[in-house]
Amino acid sequence: MKNQILEEAKQELVNGHSKKRHAFRYFVLATNENGKPRQRTVVLRKTLADLSLVIYTDKRTQKVKDIQDNAEFSALFYDSKKLLQIRVEGKAELITDKEQIATYWHTVQAESRKDYTTSIAPGTPIKNPDEVGYKAEENYFCPVKLIPNTIEYLRLKRPNHIRVLFTRMDTDWSGEFLVP
Ligand SMILES: Cc1cc2nc3c(=O)[nH]c(=O)nc-3n(C[C@H](O)[C@H](O)[C@H](O)COP(=O)(O)O)c2cc1C
Repeated sequence: MKNQILEEAKQELVNGHSKKRHAFRYFVLATNENGKPRQRTVVLRKTLADLSLVIYTDKRTQKVKDIQDNAEFSALFYDSKKLLQIRVEGKAELITDKEQIATYWHTVQAESRKDYTTSIAPGTPIKNPDEVGYKAEENYFCPVKLIPNTIEYLRLKRPNHIRVLFTRMDTDWSGEFLVP
C-alpha cells in the first residue's frame, strides 16, 4: 500500500507541471531568512525523475539569498478537491550550468521573459508600479532545483485519514505510516 501511495504522490507531482490547471501547479515554498521562515507562491516548472522539483526565479530575489545561506527548504502542495497535502523537504540548489539554464530559458514564453529582466531588483521599494523598467539585453533568470529528502503525504478521507512519511535512501524511498 505504501508503494502505491508513493506512486500516487509522484504522479501528482508530475501532473502538477504537465497538466494545465492541476492543483499542484502553484505551491508554497519556504526558505530560511536568517532563522526566520519566509514563504511565497511559486510555479512548479518540472518534476525530474528523482523527484527533484524545478522552479524559476530572478537571481536577485530574497529566496536566492536565503538558499545561498541555508539550502534547506520546505515546499507545500495542496489539492482542495482531493483533500490531499504533500510536504516536500530537502536542499535547494541554484542551477548554474549554462547549458541547463539555456534549456530552461527556452521553455519560458516570450511574454513572460520580461519577468526576469527588471532594471531594478525585485523587492526594491518604488513610488509607483509604472516606474518598473526592463532590460532588453540582460536577464536575471535563475532556475532552482529543490532536491527532496522527505515527502510527507496526507490524505483526509473516511473512515481513515492516511499519512505517510517517505524518506529518501540513496535512490530509493522508504515509507512509514504516521498517525494523521
Ligand atoms: C500565482 C503566483 C505565482 C508565482 N510564481 C513565481 C515563480 O514561479 N517564481 C518566483 O520567483 N516568484 C513567483 N511568484 C512571486 C513570489 O510569490 C514572490 O512574491 C517573489 O518571488 C519574491 O519572493 P522572495 O522575495 O521571497 O524571494 C508568484 C506569485 C504568485 C502570486
